Amino acid sequence: TGRVNIVHEAVDRWCEDETQGAKTALIHEREDRVRAFSFIELKRKSSQWANLWAERGLGPGDRMFIFLPPGPEIHLAMLACARLGVLFSPLYASLNYDELEFRFRDAGPRAVLTHPDLIERLPPESTGSVEFFFLSQGPAPEEMWTMDRADDRPETHEPAWVDPDTPLYLLYTSGSTGPPKGVVHAHRDMVGHLVTAQYALDLSPDSVLWTDGDPAWVTGTVYGAFAPWLCRAASVVQGDPFAASTWYRTLERHRISVWYTTPMTIRRLAAAGQDLPRRYDFSTLGHIASVGETLSPEAFFWVKQNFGLAPHDTWWMTETGMIMLANFPATPTKPGSMGRPLPGVEVAVIDALGRPQPVLTLGELAIRTPWPAMMVGIWGDPDRYQSYFRTEEWFATGDMAVRDEEGYFFHQGRNDDLIKVGDKLLGPYEIENVLHRHPAVREAGAIAMARGPGRVEVKAYVSLNPGYTPSARLNQELLTFVKTDLSAEVPLREVKFVAALPKTRSGKILRRVLRAGELGLPSGDTSRLEDDAGDG
Ligand code: WT7
Repeated sequence: TGRVNIVHEAVDRWCEDETQGAKTALIHEREDRVRAFSFIELKRKSSQWANLWAERGLGPGDRMFIFLPPGPEIHLAMLACARLGVLFSPLYASLNYDELEFRFRDAGPRAVLTHPDLIERLPPESTGSVEFFFLSQGPAPEEMWTMDRADDRPETHEPAWVDPDTPLYLLYTSGSTGPPKGVVHAHRDMVGHLVTAQYALDLSPDSVLWTDGDPAWVTGTVYGAFAPWLCRAASVVQGDPFAASTWYRTLERHRISVWYTTPMTIRRLAAAGQDLPRRYDFSTLGHIASVGETLSPEAFFWVKQNFGLAPHDTWWMTETGMIMLANFPATPTKPGSMGRPLPGVEVAVIDALGRPQPVLTLGELAIRTPWPAMMVGIWGDPDRYQSYFRTEEWFATGDMAVRDEEGYFFHQGRNDDLIKVGDKLLGPYEIENVLHRHPAVREAGAIAMARGPGRVEVKAYVSLNPGYTPSARLNQELLTFVKTDLSAEVPLREVKFVAALPKTRSGKILRRVLRAGELGLPSGDTSRLEDDAGDG
């Protein structure tokens, strides 16, 4: 018919067969409470919610914010919205007042689904667009609706049959400059979700996938929900904050077969020692993949040693909506590489004019347009959307990369922090990498700063491992360490010792915040900053 709905393909379709429909689709664990949903239960619950919302008149063209603590209600709400053709935006439960205010003003949602514990955090001045406040559990004050009332609603709701380009979800992602942007994705992304889950994550109907990203981070939205369900696989969601023992227990208890994680998680597990993983049984694990930042050779070999499986790095971004580069389960992996393009995806390294560059040349990572899960817009900002396209055919990612003779890509940092040393371009990543090799260094972030016409200096921020204290001597030692390894010409003038580095919730060092601090400027939106409490 030319009309689609992702919920039909991901959930309802399986319910046409009783055995398939009875299969577990979602396993949610939080504070030792495990709640499991079959495809039939997901269909039933999301239909009841959709019915309650449809009675209020919500449908295509409307937007709903999902602002909930960890729980399967987030996933039910995503499905109920998609079923109705309503654009949903999952928000991190930890967003602060300003961050919430910006999002409400920017997207002007007609409805919000929240929780009694979070409702007071909503910014009253900025929720003018909201007609309907729903609470995931009751009782609800007068002007609100509790989802408990959906329990007596009909258990079916036919999906709205929409054009493939109909908006599905909206996620805010920080740029290196300016406020965060609302990336809009559409129902047609499902083609990319399905194929990438099969090729890059090795999913089949027998798989039990654990994607350990927050549902408000694109990795959690896509690979914690839609992608596994399109493959009729089970998705495990762990709602507890990070602890190494919780992570190992989750892998064992739910008999995870595919684990999609991040280098940050791997580093934290490694920091908790070699002893702990020996006490658990990971024999069901068949594939481990990683995303979000460079998977260092150290992290690569640590995983290999402790799980008996090599981790497979993948590359993509909120804007691409699906995995674009991967080390595939079926082909050799290269430690340090992000892998090769998914079948049908064309990736190149381009120069400033959008011209593809030969192998082993540094340039900007670019993707030939279009591809199935390409974003359909930046909410309310067509100019910003256009600015991604270097030429009509190349989507410029802002990441720097090199491709080798075998077609494997290597990440070289973001394009905004590159410095020139002699006639060579050097990224902050190389400097950080050297610092990481020094025994005193726990984390390192390097930024390039203009210090006058044509003069750029690098400043490194470093947090130290236990047992080391900041000193002028250690400072000098680290400077020498970097220059000896890279080049005496590296204009690294200073190492600043800090207790912790500003990071996104997915573990990327926020160089933007370091730079802003350096310039005495406000650091902009930090909604994707990791909260200190969670930083093991
Ligand atoms: C940025 C996008 C869920 C998608 C990933 C996060 C960086 C992503 C890698 C990797 C080095 C990586 C890039 C990209 N990044 N994967 N394998 N190696 N860097 O999506 O939060 O939108 O961030 O993450 O710099 O531009 P995101």
